[in-house]
Amino acid sequence: MQPQRGSTNRTRSGKAATGGSASAGAFELQRSTPAKCSGRRPRRPELTSRGACDLTNAHSLRSTVRTADNLAYMRGLPDASIDLIYIDPPFNTGRQQVQGVAADRFDDYWPGGVRSYLAFLEPRLCELHRLLKPTGTLYVHLDWHAVHYVKVVLDGLFGDTNFLNEIIWDYRTGGVNTRWFARKHDTILSYARQRGQHTFHVLRDGVFRTEGLNYDEQGRPYKTTKRGRLYFHPDGPALTDVWSIPFLSTVSRERSGYPGQKPMALLERIIRASSNPGELVADFFCGSGTTLVAAKRLGRRYLGCDSSARATAITRRRLATTNPAPG
Ligand SMILES: C[S@@+](CC[C@H](N)C(=O)[O-])C[C@H]1O[C@@H](n2cnc3c(N)ncnc32)[C@H](O)[C@@H]1O
Repeated sequence: MQPQRGSTNRTRSGKAATGGSASAGAFELQRSTPAKCSGRRPRRPELTSRGACDLTNAHSLRSTVRTADNLAYMRGLPDASIDLIYIDPPFNTGRQQVQGVAADRFDDYWPGGVRSYLAFLEPRLCELHRLLKPTGTLYVHLDWHAVHYVKVVLDGLFGDTNFLNEIIWDYRTGGVNTRWFARKHDTILSYARQRGQHTFHVLRDGVFRTEGLNYDEQGRPYKTTKRGRLYFHPDGPALTDVWSIPFLSTVSRERSGYPGQKPMALLERIIRASSNPGELVADFFCGSGTTLVAAKRLGRRYLGCDSSARATAITRRRLATTNPAPG
């Protein structure tokens, strides 16, 4: 978990996380083909008379927020039913994440270290893989504590050819470290369910840093070359895999008070890039519901789940005051 400004982190005295069966597979680096997930047989989506998935009749796939362990919840959902999944699970920091006056907290401590953390996460990643449509994309938000281990697991589940990006979220909060470089980024891994079929929209932001840029009468940027004008895209450069988005400050109006809350700008970027209006976006570690609020603002349907009743109460409150953004 990235450091929370204005929050306290306390080491817990050791409660194991629930759900998940240990699997040695997490450490099998030699896997090159997608791994098979064990466990309950997945449910099939409801079919219409024409054989297509009828998601509007599948009650569980209407916009919903659930308080539940996400493994049990996901196992009740049909195969290939979700367009975009983002998860921001605990990062295995070895601490309890507490915000402000300590009313809101969640456990981020696995007594068995990274192996037991992976044993918790791996069956959930299997479910996420099963739930994605062939056009779907998964984003997994982590930090230096476990991202490298989780990438190995995801390469095994999705097949390394379906890996899309290792996005660096650079948030540059205050604070210096005198023993090593200050850790000021999180990592978001993205995987297509089937690369080539997946939804992806190029997003543009910022300004070109090219020297000698001019602007024509219509304000379009260009550079003069020996062969004439070389025009640049009027909406700015295409986004790369390094994203500088400010961290939510303690005084941010967006702040809900829930620990680990991510900025709306981060989620809006992911949702715009990897889904279309009307599609289904899910977050099974939804916390304060940032993903679902961003999805609603952008005219997508949403599924959210968190084991904490406080988290889902905050999510519902935020959703109740969210309207789809105009345009
Ligand atoms: C980092 S927070 C998510 C924050 C969220 N992205 C936001 O913007 O508010 C991680 C969440 O995972 C939840 N969680 C942990 N284990 C879970 C489980 N087995 N099932 C469902 N939720 C779980 C925690 O309660 C916590 O709210």
